[in-house]
Amino acid sequence: MTTETETVEMWNTYGRHQLARKPQSPELDRWDWGIPDTDPGMEALGDVNGLRVLDLGSGLGRHAAYLAARGADVTAVDASHAQHQRAITRYPDTPGLHLVCVDAVAHLRDADPYDLIYSVCSMPYLDPNRLLPVLANGLKPGGRLLFSALHTNSGGAGPSAEVTPRPEILRLPGTTEDHPVGMWVLTPQLWEGLLVQHGLTMEAVTAIDYPKPDNHVSYRLYAARRPQQVPSPPRTHLHRRTPL
Ligand SMILES: C[S@@+](CC[C@H](N)C(=O)[O-])C[C@H]1O[C@@H](n2cnc3c(N)ncnc32)[C@H](O)[C@@H]1O
Repeated sequence: MTTETETVEMWNTYGRHQLARKPQSPELDRWDWGIPDTDPGMEALGDVNGLRVLDLGSGLGRHAAYLAARGADVTAVDASHAQHQRAITRYPDTPGLHLVCVDAVAHLRDADPYDLIYSVCSMPYLDPNRLLPVLANGLKPGGRLLFSALHTNSGGAGPSAEVTPRPEILRLPGTTEDHPVGMWVLTPQLWEGLLVQHGLTMEAVTAIDYPKPDNHVSYRLYAARRPQQVPSPPRTHLHRRTPL
């Protein structure tokens, strides 16, 4: 099983491959959560104008640029130098778009909280036990988290019922060269339990299936929120003890 560090190194291999190939990737004309031309699209995010937004695992940066063009102030973080290089080459100076090469967990520990954190297919590459403890504080009270995550892979293997990574395949585009990467492909029940355990409330889970029946790939879009009111600590913590 690859570690998270090895996974980022795999994305460096992928990013260098794409930097060399220079594929023509058009701008998004419609928002997607991992499979083009499927619902839901942008409506899952609502109006982003004026919001402080984080893209977690932004890759080439097309989704982040799409939101910046709609008035959001977007910080787009990716831990892979090669993926970051692709993004800054494509978007060297885009108003409202801040491209940062950093591990998402390290960023969330230091950043001011966001109105909205989203992730298109990147969250499952991070260990939930490392990421979830910093997510809620990365959001303002009432702030939203939306992320898409692999649910069923192309071979038809459904999600795991334990919070452990499993090997999935990352293919270099235009080749038959496959690389194993560790991913947390979890059931919706597990994702909900993790989010709730770490101070968020789950609002919706939406299935996103590949439109062709011969491809089993299916994602889930998770919509969660940091409650406005953080639950009060137990009363015993509110009373200062009388000094002895
Ligand atoms: C499947 S790609 C998705 C990219 C982009 N969201 C998109 O839809 O095109 C996953 C991205 O997550 C990034 N990533 C993996 N681990 C990360 C981490 N710990 N912190 C930040 N980014 C990470 C990878 O470098 C890669 O660019």
